[in-house]
Amino acid sequence: MNEIKIYFAPLEGITSYIFRNAFSGIYGHVDKFFTPFISPAEKSPMTPRERKDVLPENNAGTNLVPQILTNRTDFFIEAAKELHSMGYSEVNLNLGCPSGTVCAKGKGAGFLPETLALQEFLDDIYSYAASDNMKISIKTRLGYYDPDEFHDLLAIFNKFPVSELIVHPRIRSDFYKGEPRKEYFAYALEHSKNPLVYNGNIYTCKDYESLANEFGAGLDPVMLGRGLITDPSLADKHNGLAAETDFAKFRQLHDTVYHEYQKILSPDINVLYKMKELWSYWQNLFEGSERDIKRLLKAKKYAEYEDAVNRILENKG
Ligand SMILES: Cc1cc2nc3c(=O)[nH]c(=O)nc-3n(C[C@H](O)[C@H](O)[C@H](O)COP(=O)(O)O)c2cc1C
Repeated sequence: MNEIKIYFAPLEGITSYIFRNAFSGIYGHVDKFFTPFISPAEKSPMTPRERKDVLPENNAGTNLVPQILTNRTDFFIEAAKELHSMGYSEVNLNLGCPSGTVCAKGKGAGFLPETLALQEFLDDIYSYAASDNMKISIKTRLGYYDPDEFHDLLAIFNKFPVSELIVHPRIRSDFYKGEPRKEYFAYALEHSKNPLVYNGNIYTCKDYESLANEFGAGLDPVMLGRGLITDPSLADKHNGLAAETDFAKFRQLHDTVYHEYQKILSPDINVLYKMKELWSYWQNLFEGSERDIKRLLKAKKYAEYEDAVNRILENKG
């Protein structure tokens, strides 16, 4: 397969700097990472935890784009300015988050129905971007209530120099379920004036190939989320660097993330909580290990957890 640009999607609670650094040190070949959203507030553009996640010293060697979730121009600009002062030249606007608490405040996907306010917001943030030499990309859904909202939304995005428009072709009530509404991405390919990135449900090379066939040459770059968490070799497979899942690398990724979380989290159960969240994806790689995975997901002590991991990985060379 020809080499394509691959972006690692932001997954709140999962793709922290700990995970991103471990991944990029072991696998490489991801062109851009995005931080889970930073949600600026009145008092400060970011919380200490959000700041830690974007600090350049915690992200050396990865091409990272911080993501901002807000519907307030002043909050967005304050956060973008601070990120610029850290050395970032691109920020991403989250217009896709479907969570109830986020949408109720008119943020994420909850901003999409407010087309007039959205347009004014974009007017302001893109004026700021021009004055500060900042790029702003957007990650969006098709709409809030109805996918046909996308026609008006795309016409709005076309008025601005969106550095990349990442489209997750679902509406808010789809959350992350069901088939992506691919025909709307085809519409975007035809009508977007800005560069496009596809995101949604790519778990295997076959998934990518069938989409690429459907869309023609338009599927580069592509953003991978759950598929790349589940099978961390997926980006290497896409680019012809691996034919099969590399379980030696998987073990390295697992151990690095596990040990790095042990350095910053306590008590032990919080480290295990983080690891179990990852295993909710990884378990799909280990058919036949259901009993050990069940034990792992119940583990309360490192020894129980490690024993289950060793048993699960034992048969994978
Ligand atoms: C647990 C979880 C957390 C997520 N957090 C974010 C986030 O912080 N910002 C964002 O733009 N998207 C977030 N997403 C959406 C993903 O970035 C991505 O758009 C979605 O999972 C669809 O792509 P996929 O099918 O390749 O996973 C999240 C998704 C999940 C499942």
